[in-house]
Amino acid sequence: MTLHKSGPIGVFDSGVGGLSVWQVVTNLLPHEDTLYFADTIHCPYGARPMDEIRAFAEDAIRFLLAQRAKIIVVACNAASAAALTHLRLTFPHVPIVGMEPAVKPAAEQTRRGKIGVLATHNTLQGELIQQTIARHASGVEVHLAAGTGLVELVEAGQVDGPAVTALLRQHLEPMLEAGVDVLALGCTHYAFLRGAIEQLMGPDVLVIDPAPAVARQVTRVLESRSLLASRRRLGQHRFYTSGDPGAFEVLLKRLPGVTCSAQVFGVS
Ligand code: DGL
Repeated sequence: MTLHKSGPIGVFDSGVGGLSVWQVVTNLLPHEDTLYFADTIHCPYGARPMDEIRAFAEDAIRFLLAQRAKIIVVACNAASAAALTHLRLTFPHVPIVGMEPAVKPAAEQTRRGKIGVLATHNTLQGELIQQTIARHASGVEVHLAAGTGLVELVEAGQVDGPAVTALLRQHLEPMLEAGVDVLALGCTHYAFLRGAIEQLMGPDVLVIDPAPAVARQVTRVLESRSLLASRRRLGQHRFYTSGDPGAFEVLLKRLPGVTCSAQVFGVS
């Protein structure tokens, strides 16, 4: 299958979380068309068996490729942790860019030598995070927290308020007490909670979202393969969900920092 520069960038996640990555990608590459697929019916991925996540991710990529995607962005840490190697072997002809918790920049920027990673259960159990810590944070104290329940809040459109703060406090207080001064976000849904997270962690803690690094990587890959779209027009965007398109459309308009009013299509 040949990849064309006129094809869209395909982005997927278990739900709306990957929109935090999609937004940064489209800001950086405004002339690119995009397709976003939210596997809402199977959300959350974070506590599912790894082979199930692999199968969902494969289906998502087949769907995006059927619509001429020229590059795939796995805008989901859980799917990247469970399936990235497998996906690259299964679809060798298409470049696939995945997420990795921002352990490296966190380890580089900590002054106290203590960093935190907030991610879903699966991401914290996967090999990717252990390899990343071993490679980039060997001399640093790393505190891991599983943000159980946070994805569900974001999917319900709750990104601030008492319920969000209470759950965040439960997950983040131990690392706050341990004195971390950098927190890496390891789930794309959590980017939408950034305001609440920063408020809770206070001004001395730097919060890092890997989305800008991923968007730069997408640009590099497209450039190196001569796949960047022509700059003659602005990109067009289509959104698909395996869940309820109406509910997704409402969420799309509510999420902080997401600027798009495109129509959402259902996929069964
Ligand atoms: N947004 C996802 C991630 O980055 C998936 C969360 C989930 O479905 O549990 O991990």
